[in-house]
Amino acid sequence: MGNMIQFPPQFFWGAATSAHQVEGNNINNDWWAWEKEGARGQSGDACRHYELYGQDFDIAKSLNHNAHRLSIEWSRIEPQEGVFSPAELDHYAEVISALRQRGLEPIVTLYHFTLPLWLAHKGGWLNPKSPAYFLRFVDKVVQRLGDKVSYWVTINEPLVYVYYSYILGDWPPQRKSFIQAIRVTRNLIRAHVGAFRLIKLIYGKKGLPQSYVSIAKNMQAFVPCRHNLKDSFAVILRDRLYNFNLIEKLIRHKTLDFIGVNYYSRNLAEVKRWGINNLLMDVCQDNHHPLPKNSMGWDIYPQGLYDLLIKLKRYHLPVFILENGIATDDDSERWRYIEGHLMSVARAIGDGVGVMGYIHWSLLDNYEWDKGFGPHFGLVHVDYHTYQRTIKESAGKFAAVCRTGRLTQ
Ligand code: GAL
Repeated sequence: MGNMIQFPPQFFWGAATSAHQVEGNNINNDWWAWEKEGARGQSGDACRHYELYGQDFDIAKSLNHNAHRLSIEWSRIEPQEGVFSPAELDHYAEVISALRQRGLEPIVTLYHFTLPLWLAHKGGWLNPKSPAYFLRFVDKVVQRLGDKVSYWVTINEPLVYVYYSYILGDWPPQRKSFIQAIRVTRNLIRAHVGAFRLIKLIYGKKGLPQSYVSIAKNMQAFVPCRHNLKDSFAVILRDRLYNFNLIEKLIRHKTLDFIGVNYYSRNLAEVKRWGINNLLMDVCQDNHHPLPKNSMGWDIYPQGLYDLLIKLKRYHLPVFILENGIATDDDSERWRYIEGHLMSVARAIGDGVGVMGYIHWSLLDNYEWDKGFGPHFGLVHVDYHTYQRTIKESAGKFAAVCRTGRLTQ
């Protein structure tokens, strides 16, 4: 018998999805339009989760999850500018009730990468009015669902969105402009700050119980390749600019009730020469310090999660792991990944970090954005012809931890 680790009682255990990646037929958003222009994968019916959510939540319950993270598709709620769909609001009310009926705490994301097409046509998050449009949507959603939801995530991974859509130019609207990236980042921050305050206002006015509001912040483990000044300085800079600046800004605005963390991988800084682009972007291409990788080539580095959690301690806010997962077709590797990262979480808790829960990405194999349906992140396999779900072995092993709160090494 190896080491036995006990997680705190009341810990949240579960898995996450996002609307566009699982629902299917989100025909009124910018991704759908972009996919039609010939992207690698078409989201199409995705996992048909829009119809099959009850079955999927039965599976989550059978896996002993007590929480579930999902997102609301803005383009369904507001398919045309200023026109809100009562039927779609009802749909999400039913989805959330279905979670509650199964004893799963809903964690609801309001924006997960997809924009209604009408707003994309008006410049999306570049439009100075975009935060106001977002708040109008948030108002409708929170008025309708507030009595069923305590945990809100306003915006998923703002900087990932900015990076892929406005710096790399891989995702719609495929821009490569630093100036635009800064404008979009500012609007996303305004959108979050406004949404946080609005949610508090609505809960106050309606006399609803406490709400807990945050963002899901993607964080990377920045590690120097060599012990020299360039690599070490690059790590400090990347940590600041990518991992912590945004969080600190939101804390200064008093708009984070907890810190939502999405963690996947390591970034090994190996800077070729002094220069701002090199300091920000250069990574080790050789096999210095090699690690096992997921099927998308991302380093598997559980230690990085521990290191980040320890760094987050200084903010004195609870931390909620809202995504962590691995794209792989080797399910035993998935379990090793989960186990390794849970060990890191447990060690950080032991060292005084207040972690509220662990939400795995993802419940289902799903549409992985511009990579299509190739990468498999799910605890549950989805057959994209029959839509049959098959629970993977890793899901069963994770289920045992969710049930007992114990991890045996
Ligand atoms: C996150 C994102 C998810 C999912 C995951 C795996 O950045 O929030 O939507 O795609 O990465 O790549």
